[in-house]
Amino acid sequence: MFGRVKPLDAILATAEKKSLHRTLGPVQLTLLGVGAIIGTGIFVLTAAAAQKAGPGMMISFIIAGFVCAVAALCYSELASMVPVSGSAYTYSYAVVGELLAWMVGWALILEYAVAASAVSVGWSGYFMGLLKSLTGFELPPQFQAGPTWSLHGIVPVADFSTGLINVPAIVVALLVTALLVRGTKESATLNAVLVAIKVAALGMFIVLTVPAIQGTHFAPFAPNGWFGSGTSGMGIVGAASSIFFAYVGFDAVSTAAEETRDPQRNVPIGLIGSLGICTIFYLLVAAGAIGAIGAQPTALGVAPGSEEFTRQCAALVAQGKEPLVCSNEALAHVLRAINYTRAGDLIGLAANLALPSVILMMIFGQTRIFFVMARDGLLPERLAAVHPKWKTPHIVTIVTGLFVAVAAALLPVGQLADISNSGTLFAFFMVSLAVLILRVKDPARVRPFRTPLVWVFGPIAAIGCLFLYFNLPIEAMLVLPVWGAIGLVFYFIYGYRHSHVGRGVVDSHD
Ligand code: ALA
Repeated sequence: MFGRVKPLDAILATAEKKSLHRTLGPVQLTLLGVGAIIGTGIFVLTAAAAQKAGPGMMISFIIAGFVCAVAALCYSELASMVPVSGSAYTYSYAVVGELLAWMVGWALILEYAVAASAVSVGWSGYFMGLLKSLTGFELPPQFQAGPTWSLHGIVPVADFSTGLINVPAIVVALLVTALLVRGTKESATLNAVLVAIKVAALGMFIVLTVPAIQGTHFAPFAPNGWFGSGTSGMGIVGAASSIFFAYVGFDAVSTAAEETRDPQRNVPIGLIGSLGICTIFYLLVAAGAIGAIGAQPTALGVAPGSEEFTRQCAALVAQGKEPLVCSNEALAHVLRAINYTRAGDLIGLAANLALPSVILMMIFGQTRIFFVMARDGLLPERLAAVHPKWKTPHIVTIVTGLFVAVAAALLPVGQLADISNSGTLFAFFMVSLAVLILRVKDPARVRPFRTPLVWVFGPIAAIGCLFLYFNLPIEAMLVLPVWGAIGLVFYFIYGYRHSHVGRGVVDSHD
């Protein structure tokens, strides 16, 4: 298992044989990154971050962005060295062996599929807000959101006061799945248009809110301190662990390495370029939102999404006050609150148009990872079957889409994002270690992109991932080991026996 390492040269040769058309250049790749990164994190989770950290969430954005940047530097070395599909899963297979690679691939399901659910729920909030603003129509609250979950001992218990089932989120997840089954993925032009819409919407937000900034709104700056007290996942660091979600997606660039021209040069440009652009936007948007209407929590130490929080928000709304922290459509809410009602609707429209592309990217990334895992024999090959007419991996896409829809129906956006983060942080942690191990095990291999100061940035990335992971809310933190245990059972029932590497078939498919 640990000894079952897939030789790098075999990975590269397999990829060469099966290679997809190499059509993406540095600009498209950066756009792909920005397209996958900007989404629910900034449009929706800004509110939850404010409840955790107050105005101090600006520091949370910097902490999360910094951890992503160092992780991206490690990703870039591996992505340029092993320019094949499968991202962290493939790298781990080559470096730390099959068992850990399987665990990384398994964790990537949390990253991609659960992230798609989170973005579907985020979309639902904006959709309902826009519908209400334009037509006055509202779905009954039970159908606008799923329940919130908490742990009683080790048993998850649902609180249905927030809702029963998120109908709009199910609809959008299934629509996107249907598009993918029909083979909608390769519209680079549409992606560029949607990225432009998102960037324009955030640009408009900055232009309208920055002149309205009032210094007094930044005080107190860190009402819950660095770590909060009592409740897990609070304070500036807790907010950083959650808002990390806003940066997730940059590694979608590395999963596209197999479709990239001159990946050795372009993948690192795409990764670091898209991350840099997003960080600048996020800081400006956060400053605008805080400065324009304030970002104080409803009460100290009350976690967003908790029963107490829902009650406090309901009371505030009944008094005609709706603070940033209570909004399901944070950015639209800020603009409406400073009397830019139409601009608020426009940003809602932009979110409605653009968030589905993030869902699409996430489900697409997930199907590609499943595809590669099936190619290695760790998942049934039937999953990778290609539809005769649409030429898409329809089975794996439908399975993924159903999983995404169910999770989106039954969980709130904040919890989904935190669960997704737990899987992502594990994958990034493994990548940071893999870079270091490979420097020792295979120092002579050509590295078109070398992580600068790797013995500084590699450990910082690994420690940063651990640090953020251990500051997630306890429920999200526990999902990873439980999910991992389920993964291990699957591996020993199926993957261990069917693995191509295990059976000595290193390079079997054409
Ligand atoms: N970073 C992506 C988002 O915020 C996943 O929606």
